[in-house]
Amino acid sequence: MTLSREQLEAHWMPYTSNRQFKDSPRLMASAKGAYYTDTNGKEIFDGLSGLWTCGLGHGRDEITAAVSAQMSKLDYSPGFQYGHELSFELANKVVQLTPSKLDHVFFTDSGSETIDTALKMARGYWRSKGQPGKSKFIGRMKGYHGVNYGGVGVGGIGFNRKLFGQSVDADHIGDTLLEENKFSRGMPSVGAHLADELEELVFLHDASNIAAVIVEPLSGTAGVLPPPVGYLNRLRELCDKHNLLLIFDEVITGFGRMGSLTGAEEFGVTPDIMTLAKQITNGAVPLGAVVVGSEIYDAFIDNGGPEYMVEFPHGYTYSAHPVACAAGLAALKALVDDNLIDNVKAMSPIFEEVVHSLQGSPFVTDIRNYGLAAGISLEHYPGEPLRRPFELGLKCLEKGFYVRWGGDTIQLAPPFIVNEKQIHDLVNAVGESLHEFK
Ligand SMILES: Cc1ncc(COP(=O)(O)O)c(C=O)c1O
Repeated sequence: MTLSREQLEAHWMPYTSNRQFKDSPRLMASAKGAYYTDTNGKEIFDGLSGLWTCGLGHGRDEITAAVSAQMSKLDYSPGFQYGHELSFELANKVVQLTPSKLDHVFFTDSGSETIDTALKMARGYWRSKGQPGKSKFIGRMKGYHGVNYGGVGVGGIGFNRKLFGQSVDADHIGDTLLEENKFSRGMPSVGAHLADELEELVFLHDASNIAAVIVEPLSGTAGVLPPPVGYLNRLRELCDKHNLLLIFDEVITGFGRMGSLTGAEEFGVTPDIMTLAKQITNGAVPLGAVVVGSEIYDAFIDNGGPEYMVEFPHGYTYSAHPVACAAGLAALKALVDDNLIDNVKAMSPIFEEVVHSLQGSPFVTDIRNYGLAAGISLEHYPGEPLRRPFELGLKCLEKGFYVRWGGDTIQLAPPFIVNEKQIHDLVNAVGESLHEFK
C-alpha cells in the first residue's frame, strides 16, 4: 500500500467508518472471477458479489470489450431530446427479461435515482389521472430504497434517517421478521397475514391519499428477509382492492440472484413499477432502470400537452449513457447465454444447507436465505448492536473472505459462478471467525 494516512483524508468515503478505515485501510487493487486482489497482493473471495452487483464474476471480457468499443465510438450523447440506438436496444432487452405487463423502461444511473424516479412517476401518474391527493407512500420497516430523499423517506432503517429528518410523506407497515420463523429455510411458511397491516394504514390515511406501496420482494440490506409464503400475493390483492400502485424495488433481486430473472417472476407477483440497477451491468458501469406498464406510460404521454412538450419533466445528464447501455447489453447477454441463473438454481440448495450449518455457532441468533443470498443475525454486545458484525467481517477478511456487515447481521451473496467448494470455504471462514469471539 503506497498511500499515506494523510493522502487518505481527502476522500470522504460513503457508508464507511472513515476514522477506522483510514487507520486500517482495505484497498482492492484488481479483480477476476470470484476474487479480488488487495493492494498487498492478498487474494480475497468476493462473498457479496461486490455490493450485490457482480453476479457474473469480475473482469468479464465481453463487458470490457463492449465498454471499450463504445468509448471509442460514442463516449457520450445528450440524453434529452436526442438519443442513440443502444438505449432502445437495452430497453427492449429489459422488457423481454421482466414480466410481460411491464413494457416501458426509464434509465437512471443508480438504485437511489431509480427509486426516486419511481416515486415521482407514481405521484405524477395519479395527478395525470386527476387524483392529486394520492401522494403518500407506504414503505416497510427495515426496507432499504437507497439514499436519496424519496428513498430515505420510504425506507425503514432508522439509522439512515435520523440525521436527515423526514423527506417524503410516508408511513410504514411492519417488517416480516417473526420469532417463530427463526432459522427458516427459503420463504417462511408463516407471515402472509403481516401484509394485512396495509389495510390498517389504508383505514388510517384513506386510499384517496396514498400513491403507492413500495417493498423489496426480499429485503437485502436489512439482512436478507425472504417474503413469507403468500405475503407478496396479499400485498398485490390489497393494492388492487384499494387502487394503490405496487412498486417492487428489485435493485438486489433483479437479474438472477433469486434463481429467476426477477423477484417478481420467482415469487409469482407482478408489480406496477419495478426498479432495477446493480446486476444490470454486472456493476461495471453505473446504470439503473424503472420498468412500468403501458397504463402508467400512457398516462404521461396522453396528458403531455402539445407534441413538442416534455411529458415527464425528469431525467439525468447520464440517463441511458451509451457506455452504460453497452455494458448493460453485454452483461444481460452473458447472464442469459451462460445460463447463470441455472447455476444460481443449482447452487441455492447447497448454499442453503451449508449456511444453515452455522445454526448453533456462537452468537448466531437467526439465519435466513433465498437463492444465492443469506443473512446471519448475531447476538449484540450489550448496547452495541453493530459491533459484532463489524468485527466478524474483519475476521473473515483476515482469512481472505469479503462479507458484508450491516445492522446486526452479516450478509452473504456469492457470485452466480460460485462452486460448491467456494461455498463451503466461505461459510467455514464465517464459522471459524464466530468461534474466535471470546
Ligand atoms: C433494494 C435497494 N434499493 C436501492 C438501493 C440503492 O442503490 P444505489 O446504492 O445504487 O443508489 C439499494 C442498494 O443497495 C438496494 O439494495
